[in-house]
Amino acid sequence: MSTIAIKTGSLTINAAFLKEIKDDNSDLSNLIDATFDALTSQSAEKINVRALFDIMSQIRDYLAMHFALEDEFGYFDDAVDVPFQLSCQADILKAQHEQFYTEICLIVETAESLLHSRSQSIAMKSKVIDAFKSFYVRFQDHEEAERELVFQSFQCDFGETD
Ligand SMILES: [Fe+2]
Repeated sequence: MSTIAIKTGSLTINAAFLKEIKDDNSDLSNLIDATFDALTSQSAEKINVRALFDIMSQIRDYLAMHFALEDEFGYFDDAVDVPFQLSCQADILKAQHEQFYTEICLIVETAESLLHSRSQSIAMKSKVIDAFKSFYVRFQDHEEAERELVFQSFQCDFGETD
């Protein structure tokens, strides 16, 4: 039996709003970049567990606001005349918000467990640090892909096709 895939609603971006959200998120990008640099340049032994938990919690809260803003104003459903490729990419990137948020919440939970554990093992601390570094790299890719989508959307708006 064959099936036919039908896209019932087209998700797209509001390029101007998404660009504005990105241009205004310097607090988040400064915090996340500085944290990555600090965790990369120091050995796990020297990193304070309380500070690690606090900074991960702060990043989680910033990301909650950032994703909520992008979902509310940067993307919209049921658009007409959206290139299929652009809409598919918008679907993928918007869905990543929930995945990233779930992931940073898990990192915070692990950091909290570490904070309350008697041993505060280096292995557990390294687990939090490595999870954040991996998160950071993929989040940068996500941000770059959204900027590229903004660029493509502006090109479509101005009819620059070949
Ligand atoms: Fe995003």
